[in-house]
Amino acid sequence: MTRPLNDWNPDSWRARPITQSPTWPDTEHLARVERELAKKPPLVFAGEARRLQEHLGLVAGGKAILLQAGDCAESFDDGSADAIRDKLKVILQMAVALTYAAGVPVIKVGRIAGQFAKPRSDAFEERDGLTLDSFRGHIVNGDDFNAESRRPDPERLLAAYHQSVATLNLLRAFTTGGFAALSRVHAWNQEFVANSLEGKRYSMVADEIERALQFMKACGIDLHDDSSLQGVDFYTSHEALILPYEEALTRRDSLTGDWYDCSAHMLWIGDRTHQLDGAHVEFMRGVSNPLGLKVGPSMGADELRRLVDALNPENVPGRLTLIARMGHELVVEKLTPLVEVLRDEQRHVLWTCDPMHGNTFVASGGQKTRRFDDILSETSQFFAVHQALGTWPGGLHVELTGDDVTECLGGGSQLNEGDLELNYTSICDPRLNATQSLDLAFHVAEFLQSYKAASGARSL
Ligand code: TRP
Ligand code: MN
Repeated sequence: MTRPLNDWNPDSWRARPITQSPTWPDTEHLARVERELAKKPPLVFAGEARRLQEHLGLVAGGKAILLQAGDCAESFDDGSADAIRDKLKVILQMAVALTYAAGVPVIKVGRIAGQFAKPRSDAFEERDGLTLDSFRGHIVNGDDFNAESRRPDPERLLAAYHQSVATLNLLRAFTTGGFAALSRVHAWNQEFVANSLEGKRYSMVADEIERALQFMKACGIDLHDDSSLQGVDFYTSHEALILPYEEALTRRDSLTGDWYDCSAHMLWIGDRTHQLDGAHVEFMRGVSNPLGLKVGPSMGADELRRLVDALNPENVPGRLTLIARMGHELVVEKLTPLVEVLRDEQRHVLWTCDPMHGNTFVASGGQKTRRFDDILSETSQFFAVHQALGTWPGGLHVELTGDDVTECLGGGSQLNEGDLELNYTSICDPRLNATQSLDLAFHVAEFLQSYKAASGARSL
């Protein structure tokens, strides 16, 4: 990309049609908040975003894996240290299993420290004859169903910023301060294997990792001293939906002169806001952060090609991550032609699998839910598509929490529809709990191993 683009500004999106934008009752108030946010320090630095893009470039080249995970929507009511710690803990545990199986680095990106906004299929919600604005995430309004709570309030942009600051501060401490040490994370995995039903299947993998660590130790590597084993690089990401917030945190990097959206390292465009001439694509094409684009079953090859042109005109590896969310019934049919077209045109994109969003349905008790088996099935078919086309299955994008929630059905503990009411705390989509997340990661570890075995056999 020749940057900065001369036909782009942080506010050039304002001249474009916008979808999924809340109707702010007091636009003067919103403008005041934007000016205030624009004076705040950035959450992340341009150099960090560039480093992530380099890492994602490795993924695009088949030399690393991306693990992107976290809440569907973060909540203002739950930014506690324990909740953040437990989420990070699961992501790190998944990363160890994947690193071992893939034999390549796992790039760790949270849906965290800014994932507060939700697109909605209906602008309004009706209950018992009362119609109010739909809940759009805590950065916009409250989830309680009353007029006061559902009114979009610009002060929430500031609250979202402050919660993101606090979350990121804790993440930086946890990922560098000993909590993320490899031997420690491995010990948690051994606990999972020893103490849970679904864990038992993975005792072989855990034992192999144990042996690898013993081997390193025997060779003289001090597992508690070597700096690369003590901490991890952990990046943040969210859907860049509320553009006044994103614009206010967009700054010009003093080193390169490029624009970066300093609200997170990586930002993505949702499946409902990717109109080629729309506001969200306009905003995102001009910031130099690595970008994600959700790709659903309605996306055609031409449309995708044009979006790739707009968002990654210089074909830079790592700039664009395509997050496929097709649903387990459609994934082979819909994904295959898209991957094929981009492969044949040698577009440097990386494909990752979101097995959550195409598999949501409403249970008989009224809760939104997903079946673990559908999630697993979409993931395994995603690997199969890439294996058939000789392309790299770049990674996994999931909604999870460290808490013991009962939001998705099935998994080793066989949660059923009746269990959903036991501990359903998500303010939006159903998330995998810690056990289901690890179960999925160990399955993906197996998919990766067979992918490697098959592609190794092919290249012989
Ligand atoms: N720093 C390495 C990495 O991020 C190894 C590592 C340390 C690690 N702690 C970890 C890997 C926890 C996964 C999880 O890959
Ligand atoms: Mn979601």
